[in-house]
Amino acid sequence: MKENLLLTPGPTKIPSEICSILGQPIIHHRTPQFQAMLKEVVEGLKYVFQTQNDVYLMAASGTGGMEASVCNLLSAGDKAITVEGGKFGERWTEICQAFGVQTHVIKVEWGQSVQAQQIKKVLDQDKTIKAVFITHCETSTGVTTDIKAIGQVVKNTNAVLVVDAVSSLGVIDLKTDEWNVDIVASASHKGFMLPPGLAFASVSPKAWKLIGTCKTPRYYFDFRKAKEAWGDTDTAFTPAISIVIGLTESLKRMKKMGLEPLFAYFARLAQGTRVAAKALGLKVFPQDNCVSNVLTAIVLPAQIDGNKLVKTMRDKYGVTVAGGQGQLKGKVVRFAHMGCLTEKDLIEGIACFEKVLQEMGYSFPAGSGVQAAQKFFEQPAVAV
Ligand SMILES: Cc1ncc(COP(=O)(O)O)c(C=O)c1O
Repeated sequence: MKENLLLTPGPTKIPSEICSILGQPIIHHRTPQFQAMLKEVVEGLKYVFQTQNDVYLMAASGTGGMEASVCNLLSAGDKAITVEGGKFGERWTEICQAFGVQTHVIKVEWGQSVQAQQIKKVLDQDKTIKAVFITHCETSTGVTTDIKAIGQVVKNTNAVLVVDAVSSLGVIDLKTDEWNVDIVASASHKGFMLPPGLAFASVSPKAWKLIGTCKTPRYYFDFRKAKEAWGDTDTAFTPAISIVIGLTESLKRMKKMGLEPLFAYFARLAQGTRVAAKALGLKVFPQDNCVSNVLTAIVLPAQIDGNKLVKTMRDKYGVTVAGGQGQLKGKVVRFAHMGCLTEKDLIEGIACFEKVLQEMGYSFPAGSGVQAAQKFFEQPAVAV
């Protein structure tokens, strides 16, 4: 099979040691051996989530964690705030509406982030709002939202704060407890360097109170079942056993490095990529004050068809990056900075990007992006 460098913001590259673990013979999940792993995994997840709350596992993709958050908290007719500044913010609205939740949608121009004051204003006007759903890193635009500031606003209200950290957890800082986040939903195939198939959610005591009053019919995603099973160090249903076992290894790697150095590592990859874009005469999509270190969305020259560029990079040169979604379709290209990606991987990605840009008729000093990134990465990493 042709080798392919995966630089998409999920799924992302899986380290070879984790691939070997994933390929090991399956074990049964109702065994002391697996229970010990589950315990280890939940403790490790609490470390990465920066929480004392329990973290529950679901065999699902990231959207499963999002849906579980909505259907456990809110009943039809309840009110919630959603923030739409990209595809994944829109997903919160869609999920809420699927359950009959009344959404107050705060629309944000793509490339910008919502301000805590905008949320405060809505919460002040309507004290019956029960939840605020936010996207930490909006993967479709490369914007990071200031969750700490929003947590300050929401904590003094009756509403709970629910954060989609599917692409951001383990990549940029998210202090669940310190920032007053009630539910954080995430998944295995981004920062955790695993295949898709496992979703996670941490649940605070404030969220549990609301869960107790929620009338939405639910079965598979019922947090109450997950909690009850966890009382016996078990899961309610057959877990994604191999991914859980792989997770023991990715958590070990993350713990060994430590969270601050991990975030600094990805920040450096992001900075190097932004420097390369600038050297190519291209802009990154988000505004400077909310640009994310999870991924870099680069705006393509007007004459370049982004869909064709992504296809050529993948099919001709074996480098897979993500194109734009929604209103950015064909207009941006997105490079991830997560999991086990390295400076070398990004330089290879930028080199391929340059090559295809040239083939498609965009002119710039050949090698300028790669050289800028190399020069940036030659600087010693700042000690954390
Ligand atoms: C921020 C964010 N939220 C939600 C999702 C949805 O996750 P999944 O596709 O795993 O269901 C993604 C996936 O890219 C994402 O980046």
